[in-house]
Amino acid sequence: MDAKPVKKFKAVFGEQPHILAQAPGRVNIIGEHTDYNDGFVLPMAIEHRVNMLASPRADRTIRLFSYDFSEEVQFALDDIQYDSQHPWSNYSRGVAAIFQQAGYSLQGANLLFSGNVPIGAGLSSSAAVEVATAMALRTLNKLPIADDQIPVLCQRAENEFVQMKCGIMDQFVSTMARRGHLLFLDCRSLEYKLVPFSNSEIQIAILNTKVKRELTQSAYNERRAQCEQGVRILQQWAPHIQALRDVSWTEFQRYRSRMPEVIAKRCEHVISENHRVLEFVQILSIKDFKAHHWRKLGMLMRQSHVSLRDLYEVSCWELDVMVELAESVPGVLGARLTGAGFGGCVVALVQRQAVEALSEKIQQEYLNYTGIQPEIYISSAADGASAKMLS
Ligand code: GLA
Repeated sequence: MDAKPVKKFKAVFGEQPHILAQAPGRVNIIGEHTDYNDGFVLPMAIEHRVNMLASPRADRTIRLFSYDFSEEVQFALDDIQYDSQHPWSNYSRGVAAIFQQAGYSLQGANLLFSGNVPIGAGLSSSAAVEVATAMALRTLNKLPIADDQIPVLCQRAENEFVQMKCGIMDQFVSTMARRGHLLFLDCRSLEYKLVPFSNSEIQIAILNTKVKRELTQSAYNERRAQCEQGVRILQQWAPHIQALRDVSWTEFQRYRSRMPEVIAKRCEHVISENHRVLEFVQILSIKDFKAHHWRKLGMLMRQSHVSLRDLYEVSCWELDVMVELAESVPGVLGARLTGAGFGGCVVALVQRQAVEALSEKIQQEYLNYTGIQPEIYISSAADGASAKMLS
């Protein structure tokens, strides 16, 4: 971490920080909009992260300073309110509120955070702020919270305080990821497996469309409600179904025509996407892994994008342009939108020798088509969150 935020901490709070917590953003390789359907996801942490510096206070106030916005808010631990003037502060406010609701007592704190996770790009900058806050507060208050409970509390902060009805994927991978691995998560049981993923031949490229849609939160919550409606409809005929995770392909085919078309399309995406995740993980674990297996993985990513575009309807023109441009470069094995959709990033599986050609093509042609200058990040699978004492 660079020294400037530490200097700023001293300038703002008049003392040295005691703790440095940090949490990464993430990119999801496959398994989109499956997490809140009790399904499967396969994300990895990226090298971009949020750093949170912290020191304790004797009173019951949190002073929270955003280095990147150069703004400060203060709030009382006994009266934590949503702040629509400083939306960036709500992720930390939410975590402090939920920790207390869950029975953990907090003391006041001085907090300053900075980071390089692109904001609003679908790389989970908000989950990174939540997890970094949670790690800082846990360490500062010596709270007996297990690592795998951190994502659960952070998701509650986002669902209940921020009112974004997200699933558990982002907070989970930001907390539990391991360098050189993808994280395969069963979002029902929260059992997970770290899948080795470091290959000198293959890279993950993240292509930022730089498009942000205001409607993301409402459209996201609407998709989630449509999935729940799908479950209620299917339950009439198959009462064992608790979530779309429980619906087999044959079962779905049997009932599909009796469902409203839009609901059927949403369900079809989720059910088929879960299969793609399982197949992806199964291929990665093949002992005798050959070059052609990468192509199969790329194909699954491509199918995922088509399904998100046509059935789940969370893509947008710029994302589709980005995917098509990427896939036209020889050596790009597959590309798809990643995260919630409606803008944000595309993730691509790329042969190392093709990365430069991909980058050039995107820089020139995406700009020509859309008038927007894109950004490209190459990231290997990074470590999850941590916290350490500084003094
Ligand atoms: C957002 C949410 C996640 C997940 C993805 C879509 O990132 O925060 O929980 O639902 O969208 O897969």
